[in-house]
Amino acid sequence: MGKDDYLPLFETKVAKGRLLHRLYAVTMFLGILFICVYRVNHFPAQGELKRWAWIGSYMAELWYILYWLITQSVRWSPVYRSTFKERLSRRYEKVLPGIDIFVCTADPVLEPPVMVINTVLSVMAYDYPPEKLNVYLSDDGGSELMFYALLEASQFSKIWLPFCRKFKVEPRSPVVYFSSAVETPVDNVIFAKEWRTIKNLFEEMKGRVDVAMKLGRVPDELRKQHKGFREWELGASRRDHQTILEILIDGRDGNAVDVEQKPLPTLVYMAREKRPQYQHNFKAGAMNALIRVSSRISNSKIILNVDCDQYSNNSESVRDAVCFFMDEEMSHNIAYVQYPQYLNNVTKNDVYGNLLRVINELEFPGADANGGPLYIGSGCFHRRDALWGEKYDKESKIDWTKENGKVRVKESANVLEETCKILAGCSYEENSQWGKEMGLKYGCPVEDIITGMSIQCRGWRSVSFNPERRGFMGVAPTSLLQSLVQHTRWYEGHIQIFMSKYCPLFYGHGNIPLQLQISYCCYNLWAANCLATLFYVIVPPLCLLKDITLFPQLSSPWVLPYAYVFIAKYSYSLGEFLWSGGTLKGWYNDQRMWLYKRLTSYLYGIYGTVLRSLGFSKLSFDITSKVADDDVSLRYEQEIMEFGTVSFMFNILATIALLNLLAFIWIMARLIINTRTKEADSYALQMILSGLVIVINRPVYVGLFFRTDRGRMPSSITYQSLILATLACLLAL
Ligand SMILES: *[C@@H]1O[C@H](CO)[C@@H](O)[C@H](O)[C@H]1NC(C)=O
Ligand SMILES: *[C@@H]1O[C@H](CO)[C@@H](O)[C@H](O)[C@H]1NC(C)=O
Repeated sequence: MGKDDYLPLFETKVAKGRLLHRLYAVTMFLGILFICVYRVNHFPAQGELKRWAWIGSYMAELWYILYWLITQSVRWSPVYRSTFKERLSRRYEKVLPGIDIFVCTADPVLEPPVMVINTVLSVMAYDYPPEKLNVYLSDDGGSELMFYALLEASQFSKIWLPFCRKFKVEPRSPVVYFSSAVETPVDNVIFAKEWRTIKNLFEEMKGRVDVAMKLGRVPDELRKQHKGFREWELGASRRDHQTILEILIDGRDGNAVDVEQKPLPTLVYMAREKRPQYQHNFKAGAMNALIRVSSRISNSKIILNVDCDQYSNNSESVRDAVCFFMDEEMSHNIAYVQYPQYLNNVTKNDVYGNLLRVINELEFPGADANGGPLYIGSGCFHRRDALWGEKYDKESKIDWTKENGKVRVKESANVLEETCKILAGCSYEENSQWGKEMGLKYGCPVEDIITGMSIQCRGWRSVSFNPERRGFMGVAPTSLLQSLVQHTRWYEGHIQIFMSKYCPLFYGHGNIPLQLQISYCCYNLWAANCLATLFYVIVPPLCLLKDITLFPQLSSPWVLPYAYVFIAKYSYSLGEFLWSGGTLKGWYNDQRMWLYKRLTSYLYGIYGTVLRSLGFSKLSFDITSKVADDDVSLRYEQEIMEFGTVSFMFNILATIALLNLLAFIWIMARLIINTRTKEADSYALQMILSGLVIVINRPVYVGLFFRTDRGRMPSSITYQSLILATLACLLAL
């Protein structure tokens, strides 16, 4: 191909409307300067308490300003990418590279096998030459039920893949497909007939897996189907077993075929060795074992990694990703392609703000412009070499066309299984660079983030890709507590990164651009927001009771910068949210969730980090449950906030909500009785602040006092927080 007919496989566009953003940023900045001047100029001459309250407010404001500046780094010039799959197909269809797909699961109860095999089936069915796909399931639960479910899936794939191919089925997760198309299709007789047959076969398979789940073991007559069950008969238990590795479909020689005699993807089950005396390093450990095992079996140069609850919603994702790796001019330094995390269980107004819309639609493209988005642990295509630990080198270019179905060592599956077992053994990583310079890093609850950053520090870049039809869809937490607990883990991990040797400002210094270091800080410093926010929702209402004014009077011109900054900030945020596809009510819910996360998850994150740095607690992972009972699901669908459990997090939220309410009522009563307009003038901003806290906390008041269902606030919390809030008020008075 001559240089002249080079047509790129992907293109990058800078977002429109940057002028508006810059105008906003500059005027905000001016407003902020005025606020600082006000704080310094009007520092109270007397009153010990008042002075402290002022210093506190100023500190909180300075923090907000700093954090706001940091968040501008991911908003400055977002870029959006699109691919040209027809060009890829025209140029390279015959020589497309192989793909290794890693699915990780850890617990057969919290992550039901039926959900996991749906994910597996959806990625096996990618619109891509099947002989070039290799799917690996890592089961850290070491469960024979999971193995059994995967065995069933390997059988079902023989009819599911041809069906998807023939009728261009979307999405290719059977559960989702059959539940979204409720009506049996009638316009095409052949299709309708096959649709029904396959739906029935699927239901039967699901039934068998469910029966085994209920029994808690695989029935004996089914165990005879596969030699793999022997491992459990020999006494494999969850925390203590040797490596279990079974190649369920051996697609290496093209002899494994579906019902239409077309090749099938390779399918491998792996439960790495577990021994009580060894550290297992959670998902990062599983991923590293997969990287090694797959290097012996298929060794594809591109690795896709998905969580077991994130099915593929777009059968073309692999082709999209390959466009980013195979472009002749622009691909050489791309290490990974990150898809945003979308969720299919999100209701219209997303009560728990699970979707993180603005991050997906705006901030990741913003980080992309700065050198590449973070690696978030799922929905990510990696270049194997970069993940393995190689530095970017201008000279070494992969010839992708040689990476297709490379002639692999011809060993029988049995021999291969045996030779691979050692690679997934507990002691394999001793005295090696695994977990340090090779593979995913160990020792942090969000190991993905530092792994991605270290890849970037080795000279690579990454890209963010977010096609119209979402690549991967996961399951959202369906109760407030689940959502807050999940975020605690993230925030804690992020703040730990910031305080460790991986702090982007030091670790990244000289290795990645400054804007990218700051983009990382934007997330690393999430948890640090809690102190300023706690101050802002606790101290101003107490000051109302104590006759201390913290903000300018309503009639003073100094109100203007406060008003401008507040209104501009929130209008811009609303604008972003609507632009990202949200609703007005969704934005209101989202703001509430940010507040709640700051008051609980962030606080817990900071607390956990401090404890750990003093040597008190060990690293532990809470897997968020992917199942919910009917009652809870119903309320979730009706967008009613779920409390229902006793948790100290709820005590915090309820106490703060009540404190603001009591203070507001008190000051209103005083103003009405005394009709002193002068007081109203000086307290106006504080009252507005408390008023907003009250407005945003509506679901909490309803949960405390007006609901009777099981999802209301437990009465013990109601009493405790009432007493606490009243005490605080009395003390202040
Ligand atoms: C998921 O895929 C289906 C069709 O495959 C599509 O209709 C739907 O819009 C997709 N969901 C999202 C959120 O893009
Ligand atoms: C998620 O949504 C699906 C259908 O949209 C539903 O069947 C499933 O029960 C939901 N899961 C949870 C945990 O609510």
